[in-house]
Amino acid sequence: MKSIKNANLKGKKVIIRTDFNVPLENGKITDDSKIQEVIPTIEYILKSGGSIIVISHLGRPEGKRVSALSLKPVARGLEKLLGKKVIFVPETIGAKARESASKLKPGQVLMLENLRFSAQEELGDPEFAKKLAGLGDIFVQEAFSSAHRSHASMLAITKFLPSYAGLHFEEEYTHLTKILKEPKKPFVFVAGGKKAGTKIQLLEKIIGKADVVLLGGGVADTFLVAEGYEIGKSFYEEDHVSDAERVLRESFDGGTEILFPSDVVTAKNVSKEARVEEKDVEQMNGSDIIVDIGPKTVSKYAQPIKFAGTIFWNGPMGIAEFPKFSGGTKAIASMIGETDTVSVIGGGDTLSALKNLGAIEDFTYVSTAGGALMAFLSGEKMPVIEALR
Ligand code: 3PG
Repeated sequence: MKSIKNANLKGKKVIIRTDFNVPLENGKITDDSKIQEVIPTIEYILKSGGSIIVISHLGRPEGKRVSALSLKPVARGLEKLLGKKVIFVPETIGAKARESASKLKPGQVLMLENLRFSAQEELGDPEFAKKLAGLGDIFVQEAFSSAHRSHASMLAITKFLPSYAGLHFEEEYTHLTKILKEPKKPFVFVAGGKKAGTKIQLLEKIIGKADVVLLGGGVADTFLVAEGYEIGKSFYEEDHVSDAERVLRESFDGGTEILFPSDVVTAKNVSKEARVEEKDVEQMNGSDIIVDIGPKTVSKYAQPIKFAGTIFWNGPMGIAEFPKFSGGTKAIASMIGETDTVSVIGGGDTLSALKNLGAIEDFTYVSTAGGALMAFLSGEKMPVIEALR
């Protein structure tokens, strides 16, 4: 992979593609991990005599300007972490962006508006990529957590500029290749989070590679429905129930054991004040909402975790942003923490949940990449990585 360390940056305008898709609440960043991890590359470029044009997406505005998804508060967040002025321009390839880029002096940092306000970004449009590329002299890829997206600013742009991997991108790639390409067996995948769809695609690809899969969160709910359980008003994805049935059948033949909750924590509504109850999955009634895995499930999951050679965890076990619903996530985190097993956690939601629970220190490797890491793990072709070779 071509590394930024081999690039001559002096006097160059460096376009750096970041994944500043950070969680925002009322315009405030609630977790700035994705910004922090890019700071060393930004400082490296500035020290080497370059200037910087930061580009990123935020959320999924689907080609429209959505004010709640402006990168302006993120530019202020970057400014704070960097301790240096960040010029923000509320457009990407328009006249103002071109003018600000052309005036940029070594040592200065410019940030452009959300790339996904333009529909051409997600379409991978080469014309859009060419216009973006025209703003700078060198392209640096720092968005490992978006490496599964072949969008214009991720892939097509590399055709128009000398392109390099940033320090963080390179580090993620190197570490994760070492840990996950040939995982030490038994390989245990802990799959949680709200949505089953993307996890099911991954599960299909890693049947045979993972020895045991431990399910939690909304992902488990969809599997419980596939197994014929009544789950009341719990969130699940009807469209993916038949996919879950297929995965269960295939896993049986492929030698991967998929475990799902035998008991759960339920509530009648999702709120801080909600009264919670522990129930076996057979005991749920029509008004129950599953908010976490239960203690029997935690004990059941303890064995595979204890004997694992490698553990990969993506997605909380319950609605972990509410303390009353976070017991399962916390218990799994401390069980993994107590082992000497190589453990990787991936994805912004998992990371935020574990940070809030104060349970982040004991993992071998922590990555902000969720979908990208799953694509990487499944052995899927990733053109964005290929383009940097
Ligand atoms: C992520 O948060 O996983 C990345 O920013 C990718 O976001 P996307 O799934 O909207 O492409």
